[in-house]
This record gives sequence, structure tokens and C-alpha cells, in this order.
Amino acid sequence: MKYLVTGGAGFIGSNYVFYVLKHRPEIEVVCLDALTYAGNLSTLKDVMDHPQFKFVKGDIADRDFIDQLFSEEQFDVVVNFAAESHVDRSIENPGIFLQTNVLGTQTLLDASRKYNVKRYHQVSTDEVYGDLPLDQPELFFTEETPIHTSSPYSASKAGSDLLVQAYNRTFGLPVTISRCSNNYGPYHFPEKLIPLMISRALADEKLPVYGKGENVRDWLYVEDHCKAIQMILEHGRVGEVYNIGGHNERTNLEVVKTILHELNKTEDLITYVTDRKGHDLRYAIDPTKITTELGWTPETTFDEGIKKTIKWYLENKPWWEEILSGEYQNYYETMYGQRGE
Ligand code: NAD
Ligand code: DAU
Repeated sequence: MKYLVTGGAGFIGSNYVFYVLKHRPEIEVVCLDALTYAGNLSTLKDVMDHPQFKFVKGDIADRDFIDQLFSEEQFDVVVNFAAESHVDRSIENPGIFLQTNVLGTQTLLDASRKYNVKRYHQVSTDEVYGDLPLDQPELFFTEETPIHTSSPYSASKAGSDLLVQAYNRTFGLPVTISRCSNNYGPYHFPEKLIPLMISRALADEKLPVYGKGENVRDWLYVEDHCKAIQMILEHGRVGEVYNIGGHNERTNLEVVKTILHELNKTEDLITYVTDRKGHDLRYAIDPTKITTELGWTPETTFDEGIKKTIKWYLENKPWWEEILSGEYQNYYETMYGQRGE
């Protein structure tokens, strides 16, 4: 079996590469990544010489390159993680989100069709369902919840999901889609809430909480996501969507306070800044389908996972310090400079 894993130098993709090489030694993994600001080859250093692993640098939206790669490699399975993934960046510059997330997906779908890939899996997000109100905790996203997007990012992910479903219905391409809630864990890029707050708290810098910090996210430890994707690939029904989430809802303020507590830092580091435009209020996944059909359940609770994650960031400072010392320095000034307190 040969897998193409796109976006494997990013956060979830790299964790998935590690998961497959560890748990499925019979699978050959080709990782394709454009190494954008979010892709980091140093993340993959421990598997670079693994006999079942190969890294290829390239853009999923580059048609000639993708055709050539598929022709040479004859993949059995494609798992598409590659994407522009940060909501705030999509508000600043939507174009690249459409280019990578929509046109890149289409390019992979065309190649998967042409070269008879046995399964194409699209890694999607709960953000395609929009948001839930804060005052109705009994509501959850199911696979039947209508697509209703808020940001250019979520709109681009919804667009790619619809294309994936269209290629199944129109061309019979064997596809599956997973829609997961917020992930956290090792190798999470420090522009996202949890790693941003850990790295800034360690430096005694202000922690920018959007609005009042009341928005709710449903956190899943990244390895539980990777395991779910593998179960869908091996046992999921073709043409189906599976939601992934573990009922770990927290307000942003709760998350930030937990991090401060774990790091023995005081809450006066918290600073409330102008809210994100179009900020989704609450995400919460109903995982009944994947649990009952495939037997998936998360193994890591938020309390354990956040401790493990903080420990990882403490033990792997060079990984994120290198990122913070580069291009990202300018990013923080551009994004947060005008937000004010
Ligand atoms: P990430 O930003 O950390 O990684 C994305 C990776 O894709 C990077 O390595 C980047 O270099 C690569 N990439 C970007 N454009 C590319 C292109 N044109 N061609 C090839 N590679 C390209 O993102 P992540 O958080 O690991 O998310 C991975 C996937 O999971 C995304 O599709 C995202 O929408 C989805 N997802 C993320 C979360 C989350 O909480 N992070 C939750 C649900 C779903
Ligand atoms: O739900 C899945 C999605 O989760 C994925 O599809 C996205 O790729 C991923 O980035 C994530 O999106 P969010 O917008 O939920 O994640 P982010 O870490 O950017 O923000 C989490 C919450 O924290 C959100 O309510 C905004 C808030 N926030 C974020 C940042 C970066 C702050 O309050 N301050 C910040 O500085």
C-alpha cells in the first residue's frame, strides 16, 4: 500500500505521518508539502531516513507537477491535509485560501481519478457548519447539519468538501471526508491559540484574548484525530462524511487560564483585544456516527492532553523558538499591532 499524505510538514499532517509509520509498518508514505510558512521540514527530521518514508516538496495546485508525481508513484490512497489553515490570515488575505484549499483539492481529485486511486480522503473541519449559540449547550454539529460558513477559511474548506462529494457522485471517485474539531498537541504552529499562549506566557508577554474570551471550542488531542482518520480509511463507508470530536468544550478564557496555571504564571498577563471579525461563537461535535459505526473514541482527555502539550513545548523550545525568530515576528506585529487592548 502506498499513501500520499499532503501537508505532512504541518501540524496534523506530521502527527499523522508519525502515526502511520508507527502503527502501519506495511504502508509506504510519500509526504508532499509546499513548505509554506506553516510547513517545517525539521518536524520530519526523525523520519527522513525511515525506509517507508519519502518527502517531496511541491504544491498541490500545480497540475503538471501533481500529474507527474501520481504517474510515477501510483498511489493507492491520498490523504489531503494540505491547506491554508489559519482563520485570521484568511480574513487578511482570502485569495491564497481559495487557491490552495479549493483549486489544490480539485487538482488532487483530478489526479486521483486519472490514476485510479482506491481512496481519496479529505481532511476537513467542523468550521464548515458555522457556529452554535452559546446559550444552547444541547446543540451539536452532526453530519446532517447544513454547511453555513463564516470566514474565507471555512468557506474555502466547505468549497473543497463539496467538490470532493461531487467527484464521488459524478465520477464515482471513492472518497471519504472527516470533519474534526480543534486539535492541539505537538508541532502546533505558534499562531494558533494554545501554542501562541504557551510561548507568550513562557516569555511573560501579554496574552491576546479576542473579545471577552467567551467563545467555545471543542478540543481534541491530535493523535486521537490521526487514529480516527486511519479508522475511516480502513473501515469507513465510501462517500460518507464522519465528524470527529471528543466533547471537550472549553471557553477560550478557560483554556488560557489553564495554561497560565500549569506554567505558574499570573492571570494579569491576559489582555482583551478587539474581537476577530465574524468570530464563530461555539463549535461542538456530535461524534455518534464515528463512535457507533467504527468504534472510535478519544483516548486523551483535555486535562491530560494540555499537560502533555505544555510539557512538549517546554522540552522542544528550539522547534518553536526558531519559528518565532523568523518571518513570524513580523506577522505578530501586523496582526496584533492595531488590535489594541
Ligand atoms: P498547518 O497549517 O499546520 O499545516 C498545513 C500544511 O500544508 C503545511 O505543512 C503547509 O506547508 C502545507 N501546505 C499549504 N499549502 C500547500 C500547498 N499548496 N501544497 C502543498 N502543501 C501545502 O495546518 P493543520 O492545522 O495541520 O491542518 C491540516 C488540515 O487539517 C487542514 O486541511 C485543516 O483545514 C484541517 N483541520 C485542522 C484542524 C486544527 O485544529 N488545526 C481541525 C480540523 C481540520
Ligand atoms: O475547528 C477546527 C479549526 O480550528 C480548524 O479548521 C482551523 O484550521 C484551526 O486553526 C482552528 O480554528 P480556530 O479559529 O478555532 O483556532 P484558533 O487557534 O485560531 O483560535 C481558537 C480560538 O481562540 C478562537 O475562538 C479565536 C481565539 N483566539 C485565537 C488567537 C490566535 C484568541 O482569543 N486569541 C488569539 O490570539
